Amino acid sequence: MRGFIDVHSHVVPSCDDGAEGIEEGLALCRIAFETGTDVLFATPHAHAPWDTFPRSPRRDAVYAAALPVMQKEAATWGLDLRRGWEVYPTVIAPENVEEYSLEGTRGVLIEFPGFWLDLDDAVAIVCEAAMIVESAGLLPILAHPERCRAVADDPGCVRALVERGWLLCANAPSFLGGHGQTAERTAWALLDAELIALVASDGHTRGRPPVMDDAYAAVCERRGEAAARPLFTGSAIPWC
Ligand SMILES: [Fe+2]
Repeated sequence: MRGFIDVHSHVVPSCDDGAEGIEEGLALCRIAFETGTDVLFATPHAHAPWDTFPRSPRRDAVYAAALPVMQKEAATWGLDLRRGWEVYPTVIAPENVEEYSLEGTRGVLIEFPGFWLDLDDAVAIVCEAAMIVESAGLLPILAHPERCRAVADDPGCVRALVERGWLLCANAPSFLGGHGQTAERTAWALLDAELIALVASDGHTRGRPPVMDDAYAAVCERRGEAAARPLFTGSAIPWC
């Protein structure tokens, strides 16, 4: 299987918890390409100021320097590497939302707060951010809802977001237990309820690589290829 489109990865160095340098980043890109990904979005963290990886001039400079070098090299193999961000909800504001769009699309990747943050109002702050994105004429893509405690407790709580047209983007490793049993159970529950629009790798390192093929096989087995394929090939992405 080729043709995967992966909207969520940390393969371009930006001083977050993804690739530490261009050499490692290109090795991760190569892994993505060799496992079937044709379009790969680099989405460094844009965390809240109180968290681990907020944007900074230094991080922006590292990212801006590495990306074109890596794009040029990846293109020689046939991998389309694109610019993006994974944005924490409270970072999004009307004045900055455009700069966070995934390159060549009208989508903005918003990070669903994970269980490690243990927020009571995670879904509410995601909704607030998504409304800002929507008001700017862009489309919210909500990353790894299955890793959010509130969603795990009640997967149906995100149905209203889906009905509004927003896209839920599950992490590929979640379907295979890579983020623990709770995320695994929640990812399948969301998928079976037809609430998932996209699957992405959220690849960070060689130990957590940007691969989609194993999750694709698992989703094919459970839901059939006709249902699985659009989720892994970006059929819901709002291309410009
Ligand atoms: Fe991520």
